[in-house]
Amino acid sequence: MPKITTLEEAFIHELSDIYSAEKQLTKALPKMARAASNAQLAAGFTQHLEETQGQIERIDQVVESLGIKLKRIKCLAMEGLVAEGGEIIEEIEKGPVRDAMLIVGAQKVEHYEIASYGSLITVANSLGYTEAAELLKETLAEEKATDEKLSQLALSEVNQEAIAANAAMEPAQ
Ligand SMILES: [Fe+2]
Ligand SMILES: [Fe+2]
Repeated sequence: MPKITTLEEAFIHELSDIYSAEKQLTKALPKMARAASNAQLAAGFTQHLEETQGQIERIDQVVESLGIKLKRIKCLAMEGLVAEGGEIIEEIEKGPVRDAMLIVGAQKVEHYEIASYGSLITVANSLGYTEAAELLKETLAEEKATDEKLSQLALSEVNQEAIAANAAMEPAQ
């Protein structure tokens, strides 16, 4: 028999999924901060770790406001995204090229979160979960701001540093 039969149950499933995703991120972000060489990027990962802890608390508030219980599930998408972050660290030595790719990996994470929260807000609104929708909107705004900051950092510093590092390695003509 299928386990999920109502939209309310589907909402709980999706909320449980993003909860797992955020939990996984709290373990991955300190590793990403240590793996970065650009100081602003490392600080950004550390700052987003604090934000992520707040986002987990916000999910707890949603759970409380609705009187629901989360399911113990593992977000497989986040598991994959975190594994790809690990590959970046393994395959590229510490420096600007790794930083540039850490930004790419982190933006994939943010985009996944933006998609998840965006859809959760829509479902919450359809179900009349006004307070939950408001809480989730606060998190969505943080994820969008983080994504934007990563784009800015790539454009203003990191990608140019990566290009310059490569030029410095080329043999003199
Ligand atoms: Fe998040
Ligand atoms: Fe995030």
